Amino acid sequence: MNKKITVVGAGNVGTTTAQLIAEKGLGDVVLIDIMEGIPQGKALDILEACPVWGSSSKVTGTNSYQDTAGSDIVVITAGLARKPGMSRDDLLFANTDIMKQVAASVAEASPEAIIIVVTNPMDAMAQVVQKVTGFPRERVIGMGGVLDTSRMRSFIAMESGAHPKDIHAVVLGGHGDLMVPVRSLTTVKGEHISKVLSDDVINAIIERTKGGGAEIVGLLKTGSAYYAPAASSVEMIETILGLKKELLPCAVYLEGEYGISGVYVGAPVQLGAGGLEKVVQLELTDDEQKALHASADSVRGLIEKIGI
Ligand code: LAC
Repeated sequence: MNKKITVVGAGNVGTTTAQLIAEKGLGDVVLIDIMEGIPQGKALDILEACPVWGSSSKVTGTNSYQDTAGSDIVVITAGLARKPGMSRDDLLFANTDIMKQVAASVAEASPEAIIIVVTNPMDAMAQVVQKVTGFPRERVIGMGGVLDTSRMRSFIAMESGAHPKDIHAVVLGGHGDLMVPVRSLTTVKGEHISKVLSDDVINAIIERTKGGGAEIVGLLKTGSAYYAPAASSVEMIETILGLKKELLPCAVYLEGEYGISGVYVGAPVQLGAGGLEKVVQLELTDDEQKALHASADSVRGLIEKIGI
């Protein structure tokens, strides 16, 4: 039987995620949104593309959580997106209210689901979802690090001319302005990046990565990125389904790993059939470790503001 994958939010990220799931035939997709007709219309449009893709995924759109019942995986993209000049944190209060409602409905309809949280400010929203659902940390995971790492790899590819598959990078910490691109672990064709690119270029890549989301918001003006966020969410799904095995940087509730506890923050993890299978402890420099703690503290600050 096909896996049942629900995507909450039929905006750009949600719809593109639904499209990729169907195109790759990863499972049946239920697209849910509060807007009447929008998820139904977009789902039908995606379904009508499946014969061309050679996919047998069933794709349906709905406004009712009853139709999402028994989902194996739920991707939450609902909420407001940034406008130019806004940081992800500016969305905190509006999206917290939305997350609380969505999380309660998802937990009721799909008590065994693995939830992937995409809505910003993502780390804090993952924490809200985990709190409201009462799901174990293994089954509420945030998408941020995969996207940030993909951005960094694409910038390194641009500057070095190397194929992205030969570029290894990792971005840890919160999916916010204090994210931590880990320079010490960045390699191009197995060589440390400092042997391939100058310090100035590497620093520029790191800064561009940190501002990667804002760069797109600034260009689009009416919304934020969605192709790379959707692709990143789908890579997490493929890993949960066992189709990929890579370690991925994802936001998880840390319980002492990296010396951090009680907060969602990006760490390298192994995902699998149970969701989070293992948090992997990588060797970081002292500066990277400090930056990771500063990033975790900033997520903690958001959590305190919303008082969950
Ligand atoms: C970004 C948003 C989705 O980084 O957080 O583009």
